[in-house]
Amino acid sequence: MVVLGIETTCDETAAAVVERDDSGAGKILSNVVLSQVHEHAIFGGVVPEIAARAHVEALDHIIGKAMAAADKTFDAIDGVAAAAGPGLIGGVIVGLTTAKAIALVNDKPLMAVNHLEAHALTTRLTAGTAFPYCLFLASGGHTQIVAVRGIGDYALLGTTIDDAIGEAFDKTAKLLGLGYPGGPQVEKEATRGDAARFSLPRPMYRRAEPDFSLSGLKTALRLEAEKIAPLSDQDVADLCASFQQAVVDVIHDRLRAGVRLFRRRYGVPNALVAAGGVAANQAIRKVLQRVAFEFGINLVVPPSELCTDNGAMIAWAGAERLALGLTDPLDIAPRARWPLEEVAGPRAPAPASAQGNAESA
Ligand code: KG4
Ligand code: ZN
Repeated sequence: MVVLGIETTCDETAAAVVERDDSGAGKILSNVVLSQVHEHAIFGGVVPEIAARAHVEALDHIIGKAMAAADKTFDAIDGVAAAAGPGLIGGVIVGLTTAKAIALVNDKPLMAVNHLEAHALTTRLTAGTAFPYCLFLASGGHTQIVAVRGIGDYALLGTTIDDAIGEAFDKTAKLLGLGYPGGPQVEKEATRGDAARFSLPRPMYRRAEPDFSLSGLKTALRLEAEKIAPLSDQDVADLCASFQQAVVDVIHDRLRAGVRLFRRRYGVPNALVAAGGVAANQAIRKVLQRVAFEFGINLVVPPSELCTDNGAMIAWAGAERLALGLTDPLDIAPRARWPLEEVAGPRAPAPASAQGNAESA
């Protein structure tokens, strides 16, 4: 089956066409991503109102490009998927409403996909990973360790109690006068810095529950920076290196706790899977590899362009859901908040609180 996927939950306007065969193997026929990063960069972060307007302006064109690149007409597809949340509600409304219009006019099924579920299932598109697996999702908005046991069967093992990891990188970059998004800039500076120069905390270290906390680390970094201001180029590099090393150590410790909890509850996972923009960081990839090695499991990291937000992951999650007959009505509401555990699967309906109504962020 062939599915069109639409992603507009944050600052990427994206559309893709993906094919899933009866054996469950996937193929990307097209994947078009338009980043709004330049429109938000001067503000040092995503401005929701600007994002929503930019999605309205770009989406028709991006969908047209994805359909043309896949050499498909709307007639030839089997369903339309859109990210229905969680995310910035203005953008989510643009994408979901567009998907509904395409589904209605062309008499195709609609799949209202959870954006986090799409990140979680990408590894099945790129590597055919079998359930159950342990997912480490780290992006600008989310930091989660999830037991992925089947479609719509997601158990949250750990999460952040304050900032997301990507957000901590972005705030660090902003503090040090580096550009937005901060992750790649901090990583670049860190390569020429001394990670041992500043002693920063490792929040939540050694706790049994695999949760994260990043805000104390960010504050400690700010205090160190203030102590030695004005900052030289080498100071900035050393601060970045010390920060990144603290994050790497925290990920090592927290993920070990996560995989341990997974093993206790569900047995040995088939793989450790990374998703989200933070997985582009080479030092973080190395520590993920280390955790996988320590537990004797495979590490799967989808290609960077599929780790960050894209339409192919939405189309793929839509195709996986469509294959199980999990389609949605045209009056389904967009959701700013939509925890992964509330996503419905083939076995059990979603809890009553998860059905229908839009929620505020
Ligand atoms: O998944 P993503 O593209 O968008 C969402 O937030 O959903 O992730 C973007 C986040 C940003 O916070 C960015 O700073 C971070 O991922 N990021 C990185 C790196 N590349 C992107 N963080 C650390 N190191 C990187 N190389
Ligand atoms: Zn995302």
